[in-house]
Amino acid sequence: MSDALRIGIAGLGTVGSGVIRLLSEQEKLLAQRCGRELVVTAVSARDRDKPRDFDMPDTAAWYDDPCALAQADDVDVVVELVGGAEGPAREIVETALRCGKQVVTANKALLAIHGSSLAALAEKVDRALCYEAAVCGGIPVIKAIREGLAANRFERIYGILNGTCNYILTQMEEHGAEFAAVLAEAQQLGYAESDPSFDIGGIDAAHKLSILTSLAYGCQVRFDAVFIEGIEDLTASDIRFARELGYRIKLLGLARRTEAGIEQRVHPCLVPLQTPIAEVSGVTNAVVAVGNYAGQTMFVGPGAGAEPTASSVIADIVDIARGLAMPPFATPSSTLEDAPISPMDRWQGAYYVRLTLLDQPGSMAGITAVMAKHSVSIDSIIQRGRSPGAAVPVVMLTHKTEEARMARVLHEIAALEPVTESPRVIRIERF
Ligand SMILES: NC(=O)c1ccc[n+]([C@@H]2O[C@H](COP(=O)([O-])OP(=O)(O)OC[C@H]3O[C@@H](n4cnc5c(N)ncnc54)[C@H](OP(=O)(O)O)[C@@H]3O)[C@@H](O)[C@H]2O)c1
Repeated sequence: MSDALRIGIAGLGTVGSGVIRLLSEQEKLLAQRCGRELVVTAVSARDRDKPRDFDMPDTAAWYDDPCALAQADDVDVVVELVGGAEGPAREIVETALRCGKQVVTANKALLAIHGSSLAALAEKVDRALCYEAAVCGGIPVIKAIREGLAANRFERIYGILNGTCNYILTQMEEHGAEFAAVLAEAQQLGYAESDPSFDIGGIDAAHKLSILTSLAYGCQVRFDAVFIEGIEDLTASDIRFARELGYRIKLLGLARRTEAGIEQRVHPCLVPLQTPIAEVSGVTNAVVAVGNYAGQTMFVGPGAGAEPTASSVIADIVDIARGLAMPPFATPSSTLEDAPISPMDRWQGAYYVRLTLLDQPGSMAGITAVMAKHSVSIDSIIQRGRSPGAAVPVVMLTHKTEEARMARVLHEIAALEPVTESPRVIRIERF
């Protein structure tokens, strides 16, 4: 057997503790598969006295300062599991690379913001920067796109990239409950953070999408180029109407290359009930990659949690132990394209529109006149119940049109006298 691979773990929270437990429980299997032992020689967290749900390896030295761990002579691989795009996480990764360590991280925020420059640093010092766990926790989707599908050009990549949002949407549909009530329950059950803004606002999904986009399209990681809308404004009635029309609402991350440039979007979508992605429920994540040779492949599994995420972190450590190496974003970072961004106002698709209208003669005529003026045609409409003089919901699906044109239509409709609330709009993805 070769020399043991010496591992330093910074961050002993959900993922860090899972990694230490897995390394201990699967010690023999991993040594056999790697041809060498994996030994934890250093650990770091904020609070040394905090109770932890694992036995501290007796081979591991404690570091109050994670950057000191990143420089330790008896560490070959630094595993960054602290989190956050700036501060200690970034310092740990940069310090480790500069000190000639291999690096494994689960930190999507860090990679989404600094991925291109960190990849350049890793290549300069000829060290690994691995991040399988950063996108969809336990699903090995980075390897799938970077290696398994390396022969393909991707027509599109899309998926359910945030388990918290998918859980909330599933619960809203199953129980007819409103967003705020389901979010509160999800927080109690531990499916949502006490500050859920990154999840429900679509930021977390956008972090992951920007990483997948770079890998799939050979471009710089551009989180700032992702169009983002969260799920905060969705209502139980939208979910009910969507279902009635043959759709389910999902928060999707979608990327593709268009003639205008790279398109990256995260927003709620109506997806047809009979599509595989519509079937993915609860906290489960899914990524669909459409390659020009492989066709459509779909990867489904747990997007978070100690064990699944640890499984992906260890997969990276195993690669390093076996001596497998490649540029972090598959192609050398100097060749990653600074691709133009496909402007969202030129996106074309169909829309779900929910209006709240006073039930009075001529209300609908005003709406249809605005749509006709802008050449936006209606595919189907639900207008139920009469309640003369009161506000009633009217739901329309449009035919394909351009985002900018739809924005003008909505602006004019919102100003009409019988329209009592801002129109609710959700894009439709038919794949
Ligand atoms: N949780 C998941 O299911 C999941 C899934 C995929 C990816 N990730 C990513 O994995 C990373 C870790 O997530 P997590 O859920 O394990 O986070 P977590 O439970 O909050 O754990 C964070 C750890 O970092 C330590 N820490 C914080 N600031 C530190 C500092 N300045 N110096 C040293 N240690 C510090 C904390 O120390 P104390 O324990 O002493 O407080 C804690 O052990 C994040 O990048 C996250 O996005 C998580």
